[in-house]
Amino acid sequence: MMESLTTLTPPESSASPRRQRLFVALPLPEFLRQDLAALSEPARHGINWAPPEHLHLTLKFIGEVDRPLATAIGEFLTSIAVEPFVLQLRGSGCFPPRGKPSILWVGAEEVPRLLQLQYRIENGLYSRFGILPEKRVFTPHITLARCRSAPETTVREFLKKHRNYQSAPWKATSFVLYESLLQPQGALYQEIARYSLRLQT
Ligand code: 2AM
Repeated sequence: MMESLTTLTPPESSASPRRQRLFVALPLPEFLRQDLAALSEPARHGINWAPPEHLHLTLKFIGEVDRPLATAIGEFLTSIAVEPFVLQLRGSGCFPPRGKPSILWVGAEEVPRLLQLQYRIENGLYSRFGILPEKRVFTPHITLARCRSAPETTVREFLKKHRNYQSAPWKATSFVLYESLLQPQGALYQEIARYSLRLQT
């Protein structure tokens, strides 16, 4: 039985106190956030770099939901059991892949447990709450910057330079439910709950 359907609202809408804009993501360890922040080139015109504390790997963007549904989602996530796994970031790219780029990212290895975690979250949110899965194939990535107003050559140069980017491997041990608070100066991400990766019992 589905409890409720979520309604996605455009990013520029202001959140009501009774609703929360949510997403689920893998947090990154500090060393990796510093490593990624070092790739940023503040002098590059038109590229808006994400602050290091914002860097994460999105598993599922949920959108705005009422608070009771947000609570139920938080409870549901406690039931997800996927073992911790080792992950490495590799390569860089942009969205959309063709035409004028608007997002710059580094990729993550598609290790089976990462895909399993993403699938279980997305599938569970759909079967329990009717939250629709993404139409696009899951492309694990970390958004480094928004670059819609940068000249395309600037973005392509960055991608060429970091085509072979590779991070040190790290062990993912938890995932997080975040609230995205939309503010005039940009979104603020607030951790609502953290879930340990664990063996199925
Ligand atoms: P990203 O993972 O490519 O950066 C919070 O907004 C996070 O949810 C961002 O990291 C963002 O993308 C991701 N996200 C996915 N779909 C989104 C959407 N339709 N609107 C806003 N954010 C979205």
